[in-house]
Amino acid sequence: MVRSFSGRQVDRELVDAIVARSTTAPTAGNTGGWDVVVLAGARETAMFWRCTTTEHWRARSRRWPGLSAAPVIVVVFADPEAYPRRYAEKDKTGATPGPDDIGLAESVEAWPVPYWFVDAGAAVMTLLLGAVDAGLGACFLGNFRGETALCHALGVPADRRYVGAVLMGEPGGSDPPSASLRRSGPRHDRVHQSRW
Ligand SMILES: Cc1cc2nc3c(=O)[nH]c(=O)nc-3n(C[C@H](O)[C@H](O)[C@H](O)COP(=O)(O)O)c2cc1C
Repeated sequence: MVRSFSGRQVDRELVDAIVARSTTAPTAGNTGGWDVVVLAGARETAMFWRCTTTEHWRARSRRWPGLSAAPVIVVVFADPEAYPRRYAEKDKTGATPGPDDIGLAESVEAWPVPYWFVDAGAAVMTLLLGAVDAGLGACFLGNFRGETALCHALGVPADRRYVGAVLMGEPGGSDPPSASLRRSGPRHDRVHQSRW
């Protein structure tokens, strides 16, 4: 994660290509139940920050100067209702044990794993990799506050969920390493062979 940007504008065609490539990310049933809103330039990105942060945080955060200089913010939204709709289609019903068995086509509550967030995560990862491939820095910011305000400000339909945002641009300035990186547990402990 790069959390500090120089502020230099990024070529719009490059951004569009990175975003276009993210639409090839894997998606359950080829549903593609996510959308992005691309914010470019200080006027558009300022609106994102107004909705998702507080003045108190901006005044205190050591990251604020670097983050706020990101020239591009790709805001990611999930479309939960698209999945029951898709899994009600003919090619997804009738299999045994199949989606119609457990009610996937009926409601989002029936889904053991909310694939709309899984798909959005795959799209986020594709955006991050695309940015790095293009020589840019990028980071993902989760949804912690401001979902209602952000959806309202961007004209997002009421049935969509704000997942988070990918910031991208030329790295620059002070970028103190995240405190999370001090977590030192050996990562291979998470990989199990043959049995947990
Ligand atoms: C679901 C999710 C939410 C995250 N939210 C934030 C966030 O809000 N702010 C932030 O600075 N980093 C956020 N991160 C980035 C993680 O802190 C980061 O990936 C982790 O510390 C490992 O660092 P690395 O990706 O640079 O290796 C998030 C990552 C994920 C996958």
